[in-house]
Amino acid sequence: MTAILGNPSEPDAAERAHHLGPLDQIPVGEGRAFGVDGVQVAVFRLRSGAVHAVSAVCPHKGGPIADGQVDGAIVLCPLHMNAFELSTGCSTTGQQPLATWRVDVDGSGEIVLYATHSHSQS
Ligand code: FES
Repeated sequence: MTAILGNPSEPDAAERAHHLGPLDQIPVGEGRAFGVDGVQVAVFRLRSGAVHAVSAVCPHKGGPIADGQVDGAIVLCPLHMNAFELSTGCSTTGQQPLATWRVDVDGSGEIVLYATHSHSQS
């Protein structure tokens, strides 16, 4: 029985909201890792006010993306400094992209992550 935290663009998968607690727990300009159904997701709170959710595991060699340095809307993985756009997950240094999820902040200031789940659970 495995819950798959799928990509929001998957067709016919049900979208589920995950409440991750107050946005205030993430300092402005930084990221924080959350476990969502067994998947590590890094949520970033940008100085612009934007909030983004990407995979917390670097596709290069597994570095901790949530600990990366944020430069504008780009995060640098702390291990080998590969760069990823937080809005798209795309690497600007030639690596595989980070998975991304839709994330929002609700009226009470809570982070809400929207994940799709495939129907492969038993
Ligand atoms: S592990 Fe992230 S850049 Fe190498």
